[in-house]
Amino acid sequence: MVTASAPGKVYLFGEHAVVYGEPAVPCAIQRRARVTVREREEGLRVHLDDLTLDGFTIEYAGDATGRPDIDVSESLVEAGIGYINEAVDQARDAAGVEDGGFEVSVESSIPLGAGLGSSAAVVAATIRAATTELGVDLTASEVADRAYQVEHTVQDGDASRADTFCSAMGGAVRVEGDDCRRIEGIDNLPFVIGYDGGAGDTGALVAGVRQLRLEYDFAADTVAAIGDVVRAGERALAAGDLDELGDLMDFNHGLLSALGVSSRSLDSLVWAARDGDALGAKLTGAGGNGCIVALDETDAALTALDYTPGCEDAFRAALDTEGVRIE
Ligand code: MEV
Repeated sequence: MVTASAPGKVYLFGEHAVVYGEPAVPCAIQRRARVTVREREEGLRVHLDDLTLDGFTIEYAGDATGRPDIDVSESLVEAGIGYINEAVDQARDAAGVEDGGFEVSVESSIPLGAGLGSSAAVVAATIRAATTELGVDLTASEVADRAYQVEHTVQDGDASRADTFCSAMGGAVRVEGDDCRRIEGIDNLPFVIGYDGGAGDTGALVAGVRQLRLEYDFAADTVAAIGDVVRAGERALAAGDLDELGDLMDFNHGLLSALGVSSRSLDSLVWAARDGDALGAKLTGAGGNGCIVALDETDAALTALDYTPGCEDAFRAALDTEGVRIE
């Protein structure tokens, strides 16, 4: 039996645009998914327990059919099982075994589908734990690469390497197409997260932006403008200029709103954080519903979010410089 964990993330800049080759800067945060894997004779038994679900267990013969009836939303189950199934296949491939059963138990403090990289963290930790259980020692970048293959398959090709690379490597990272690297010298950033209790449908949101980009040149220009914001953000990050980082996060949120991926509830949390004197605030991840990230060295934005109707949870999240690891 092996347990591995991997961190969630926030996007300082660049979600959605990164799907079209623009750069993005996601940062790993100290909220982890822990996955325990044990080999068994045959079939897959998955126990999933996270903030958004009361724990449940599913047992099936090796694909997602024949599931018992359970009291959670079909799409959350499909998503969770799809990711874990593919991650287990990647582990089998790395170990050169055709099949073989696993018991997989997931415990996560990252809400599902809320923009904090829950699926990437679960996939990275599952691959690390399952390969170790099979006697194979993958490096973090090998885990990142296989985790990306999983997201690419499950999300029908509409996935960048950003979430999976960040979760596997930890720290602040820069992703532009296939060029993925860690940004060295960043110890911490004063992240405050607001969570509206909901989830976004990443596939549908990414498809919506793809459609807008095809339909309107100005939507394509908006995606390219996000790339410009990211490049300016990288300079501000290197200079340690938190005020400018905040301003650029505000700008990035405006461009994401223009692309239709924000919502009344995310906007309301963004404005609560700004009214609470955050240096800047934006949605993080695919959008729709879920989380915003603000930058604030004081407690003011956190307090403002705590008192905002519709904010289910608000918390500080420190940068996690460690990526996927065996526990
Ligand atoms: C989702 O966490 C981030 C998106 O940019 C999609 C991706 O990069 O795969 C919306």
